[in-house]
Amino acid sequence: MKKEKKTISGFSKLSKMGKIKWLVENFFKDPENVMRELISYWHDDEAQQRVLDGFSENTISNYYLPYGVAPNFLINGKAYCVPMVIEESSVVAAASSGAKFWMARGGFHASVLSTKKVGQVHFSWEGEVAKLTRVFSELKTTLLKDAAHLTANMEKRGGGVLDILLVDMTQLEEGYYQLKVTFETCDSMGANFINSVLEEFGRTLTRFVATHPIFAESERAVSIIMAILSNYNPECLVRVKVECPVEDLGNFPNGMNAQLFAEKFHKAVRIAHLDPHRAVTHNKGIFNGMDAVVLATANDFRAIEACGHAFAAKDGQYHSLSYCSIEKGRLKFWLDLPLSVGTVGGLTKLHPIAKRSLELLGNPDAKELMMIIASVGLAQNFSALKSLITTGIQKGHMKMHLLNILNHLGASEKEMHEAVAYFKSKGVSFTAVRGFLNWLRNKKRKKEGEGVQSSVF
Ligand code: MEV
Repeated sequence: MKKEKKTISGFSKLSKMGKIKWLVENFFKDPENVMRELISYWHDDEAQQRVLDGFSENTISNYYLPYGVAPNFLINGKAYCVPMVIEESSVVAAASSGAKFWMARGGFHASVLSTKKVGQVHFSWEGEVAKLTRVFSELKTTLLKDAAHLTANMEKRGGGVLDILLVDMTQLEEGYYQLKVTFETCDSMGANFINSVLEEFGRTLTRFVATHPIFAESERAVSIIMAILSNYNPECLVRVKVECPVEDLGNFPNGMNAQLFAEKFHKAVRIAHLDPHRAVTHNKGIFNGMDAVVLATANDFRAIEACGHAFAAKDGQYHSLSYCSIEKGRLKFWLDLPLSVGTVGGLTKLHPIAKRSLELLGNPDAKELMMIIASVGLAQNFSALKSLITTGIQKGHMKMHLLNILNHLGASEKEMHEAVAYFKSKGVSFTAVRGFLNWLRNKKRKKEGEGVQSSVF
């Protein structure tokens, strides 16, 4: 029997088929089937597949996720149909339902409060800081001059380096300083631009200190620890709000009237400000919607998540990203959130579907995209809370999940229809669905048996 080999050197140098062969032979029990399956997800068009392969390394196939849309998003008076990529059932339905609810009540009101991004050059240095401060404006001029070849294009588009600060961190760590740099990156997320400029700044800083006459021989050595953007961008901020008179909220399941709904809703948001356990789940719901749009437009959802959660903890305790108030008979519900996204650069125009997503949204600039994403987050949060404080989420969620269970159990289209009708008024669980399918199939078998008998006699 062939011995399995779970490690390999030179894997990245193998051809795509070579990689698949090695993989299926060493990690799977039915190599041929797995190989066929992986290949079946390749794009028909070789050129398109090459584009997809180029996004990452060691690619062997494509991983499919559903691409859905949530219509009826009225944002600042403009209607959007929003693309969403997500694997969790109910998310697109919840976004759509939240959008429709608020479309009838004036829609979402969004604004971008600021668009500053941050990067840092972290360095170690043993010297008299007063000297560095004294020549800092000279250093700044030199940093900007040396990086001009990198910033010229961005400046033409209205962006570039906004400011450079020297941050003395020596109270926390001996000899540790930063250059804290703020940027405007216009319609690009700007990660590559920021990192290139920061690395150039690191080289200039080292040279400047090594050669400037103000520094003594013993002060000439700067050690650059790292030069990298910060994904924490609290000054790249978007605000989105919905509001209406409480009585316009309408009536809700189980006879809940508008006033009671508003009070319970307000309390639910308050709880997410008081208790981190609830806050994390509450915010996860917000990111359900936002991440789906971020993915559909090929933006960096890890960056957005990391920043959003850090922002949620900015006061020392993790809390809700959304807020609610009831004042003078009006319910207000809003979200302030840092969001660093791009509509040019990165994969935004390279990924064939992301390009279509942006087209579907009317080719927004980065600010407009920030407002769209935040609106989807707020709609998602509204719908989740609406379900939680009225019917509970499982009813709707499991109804959507029913189709996944049926697919998993290999249900035919006819069986699916019958199951959907049957479970309309019943609780859905894996066991219940399997039981129902078995019953249905037994019934069919019996009927067929009777049919065969009657045709024999
Ligand atoms: C599920 O993915 C998201 C919710 O748990 C969010 C929430 O509890 O607010 C429904």
